[in-house]
Amino acid sequence: MKMQQQSALFLLLLAVTSQGAASADADVAAAPESNWNDKIKVFTVATEPTDGYLRYLRSSRVYDIEVTTLGLGEEWKGGDMQRPGGGFKLNLLRKAIAPYKNDPEIIILFTDSYDVIITSTLDEIYEKFQESGAKLLVSAEKYCWPDQSLANDYPEVEGRASRFLNSGAFIGYAPQVYGLLEDPIDDTADDQLYFTKIFLDETKRAKLGMKLDTQSRLFQNLHGAKNDVKLKVDLESNQGVLQNVDFMTTPAIIHGNGLSKVDLNAYGNYLARTYNGVCLFCQENLLDLDESNLPVISLALIVTQPVPFFDQFLEGIEKLNYPKEKLHLLIFSNVPFHDDDSRSFVSKHGKKYATAKYALSTDELDERQGRQLALDKARLHHSDYIFYVDADAHIDDGEVLRELLRMNKQFIGPLFTKHNELWSNFWGALSEGGYYARSHDYVDIVKHELIGMFNVPHVTSIYLVKKSAFNAISFKHNEFDPDMAMCESLRNAGIFMYISNLRSFGHLVNADNFNSTVTRPDFHTLFSNRLDWTEKYIHPNYSLQLNSSYKIPQPCPDVFWFQIVTDAFCDDLVAIMEAHNSWSDGSNSDNRLEGGYEAVPTRDIHMKQVGLDQMYLKFLQLFVSPLQERVFDGYVHNPPRSLMNFMVRYRPDEQPSLRPHHDASTYTINIAMNRVGVDYEGGGCRFLRYNCSVTDTKKGWMLMHPGRLTHYHEGLLVTNGTRYIMISFIDP
Ligand SMILES: *[C@@H]1O[C@H](CO)[C@@H](O)[C@H](O)[C@H]1NC(C)=O
Ligand SMILES: *[C@@H]1O[C@H](CO)[C@@H](O)[C@H](O)[C@H]1NC(C)=O
Ligand SMILES: *[C@@H]1O[C@H](CO)[C@@H](O)[C@H](O)[C@H]1NC(C)=O
Ligand SMILES: *[C@@H]1O[C@H](CO)[C@@H](O)[C@H](O)[C@H]1NC(C)=O
Ligand SMILES: *[C@@H]1O[C@H](CO)[C@@H](O)[C@H](O)[C@H]1NC(C)=O
Repeated sequence: MKMQQQSALFLLLLAVTSQGAASADADVAAAPESNWNDKIKVFTVATEPTDGYLRYLRSSRVYDIEVTTLGLGEEWKGGDMQRPGGGFKLNLLRKAIAPYKNDPEIIILFTDSYDVIITSTLDEIYEKFQESGAKLLVSAEKYCWPDQSLANDYPEVEGRASRFLNSGAFIGYAPQVYGLLEDPIDDTADDQLYFTKIFLDETKRAKLGMKLDTQSRLFQNLHGAKNDVKLKVDLESNQGVLQNVDFMTTPAIIHGNGLSKVDLNAYGNYLARTYNGVCLFCQENLLDLDESNLPVISLALIVTQPVPFFDQFLEGIEKLNYPKEKLHLLIFSNVPFHDDDSRSFVSKHGKKYATAKYALSTDELDERQGRQLALDKARLHHSDYIFYVDADAHIDDGEVLRELLRMNKQFIGPLFTKHNELWSNFWGALSEGGYYARSHDYVDIVKHELIGMFNVPHVTSIYLVKKSAFNAISFKHNEFDPDMAMCESLRNAGIFMYISNLRSFGHLVNADNFNSTVTRPDFHTLFSNRLDWTEKYIHPNYSLQLNSSYKIPQPCPDVFWFQIVTDAFCDDLVAIMEAHNSWSDGSNSDNRLEGGYEAVPTRDIHMKQVGLDQMYLKFLQLFVSPLQERVFDGYVHNPPRSLMNFMVRYRPDEQPSLRPHHDASTYTINIAMNRVGVDYEGGGCRFLRYNCSVTDTKKGWMLMHPGRLTHYHEGLLVTNGTRYIMISFIDP
């Protein structure tokens, strides 16, 4: 077995020891011949097939255990749904085991279901029961509940053993279990108190041969036991085993009692053979999509902050591979900056959808109301699902919706992360206040080093919710934001939230420090959003030119021509310059320069003046240097230095041309910002030594040529319109 050192913070994952591995293997081996199997009757109680109940049943199937579920479909009469305690449960069980009450050969195993996972076979369970020497063995926990005043009546225990009774799981011979249940109890009474009183009565305890499993040999209650247990995950198969490290036991029944449900959910991602090298759990219960009868889905786009690259966000929505007539579109935006684009998206594409509506900032709804509105509309449309997508979640994989549907969960989100960051749209764990905490597997999931579908306590940004969960959702909360409120409401309802990283579905843009009040705000975000910036602003053919077999055009000797930026780059940068409108006067005196004198003046604006100099240097480093290295062999100066990055404006009535000159550079780049023959006439660049001109410049294409000595050049006359070019003198 390959051992690997994990680098994740808050590391809980340990390499499985050879001992642990052996026991894990035993767990999954086929049960050997045993006549005990049919003597052990397993019961649980569940009135509703919650996600927790389905998880419990799955674990029982994995270990070949046949379970009888009591109360399914009945109305729960035992008080709080979350905790299947209550006398109701005992009354159901008493009735169910009555036929065996006099049969000392029969063993009854009872467990709760919503918050229980089975992790071994009946053979092992039987063996552990036998070793306990009890006739009736009840699970034990760290807290005396519900009547703390009884704590001192309990027998003392040593060290870190669990002293107090928990009624969530027990095993015993049928006559003893029946004896335990003999006294009448109201449906709404507390079953744990009922058991506690019997246990604390020494006569009854002795008569029933009743013991508590204080060292978690068979049962592990998780509440208050975080430091008692360790999840050990085999790093190759990802199969997990939960060990009690105080007593080096491997309990067979894991119970997320009390406040430990989130912990159980996290362990549950690895227990009961959810993995075997690959995610087995991800291949179970898949939904076969019937193309002739696809689910109806409400698609809710939620815009609650100014975000960069909103146009690309909307393109991602258009990419969804799903019949639009099965989608009810709603754009909710409370951000004035995005109102226009939202409106025009609906008017341009709305007709394809079943319905298409928007609620914009003028409707003055806050985020809670907006999310609620989307849910109300989903109900109104009788949608089978609602798919929430926030404006910072960019869909890259158009299959995302179908892939999530296939997973067939009440709630599932695709993993989205900020590019090259550990920031994502889920939390692996919660702090005590209900805020973010990092789980042991968080980094591995984010980096796709661990691939699957994970039950987590918090998902944001993009998620698909099934109709059956609509009524559980609430966005209201005094303290939490709407996302946190929603997740809390789902946790309280016992609805599991899954995050899937089975594919790379998309990414989050970085809206931090995004200033939507500047001209063309997306253009300013190269540092914070390199991925989206590159997609929007770098020419789609850019990287072809890095291939050494691609022939770079040479319109004049040692003048090279590259496809470098998009029309959006040119249009945005020209708009930024025109909005700034600080064109120089074209005279020789220039106070932007160190000497205050410019020998060959142009009408221009420096990048420094519009606050984009640092960003432009980054652009030179990332995108220009690699091209330079392709054409001037052996000259490697990265990052390039450039003190002068500026846009020049030529106009017949202003400055129409530039006299011959050398540049103060090792090499110069010159990017055409608009179209000859359309935006202007004339213009171009002439290299005098070669009597060679480039006049058919192309928008978004860059000329690169040596600055001094050989490439004495002039700017040719512009006869009509306005010509813009973007110049850098590199390595002066
Ligand atoms: C956003 O840009 C505007 C206009 O340039 C500027 O006045 C403002 O200070 C900027 N805000 C932030 C937070 O940088
Ligand atoms: C990219 O280059 C190919 C030829 O190699 C050309 O056909 C295509 O139009 C170019 N794409 C763009 C956006 O200019
Ligand atoms: C470079 O281009 C050649 C010819 O078009 C092609 O065969 C090769 O795969 C390309 N190499 C890379 C790394 O893209
Ligand atoms: C330069 O080229 C132009 C046309 O390209 C030609 O008319 C002219 O005679 C050339 N001048 C010299 C000095 O070769
Ligand atoms: C300049 O361009 C405008 C618009 O493209 C056109 O109407 C006009 O006739 C042009 N002027 C000259 C002198 O070519």
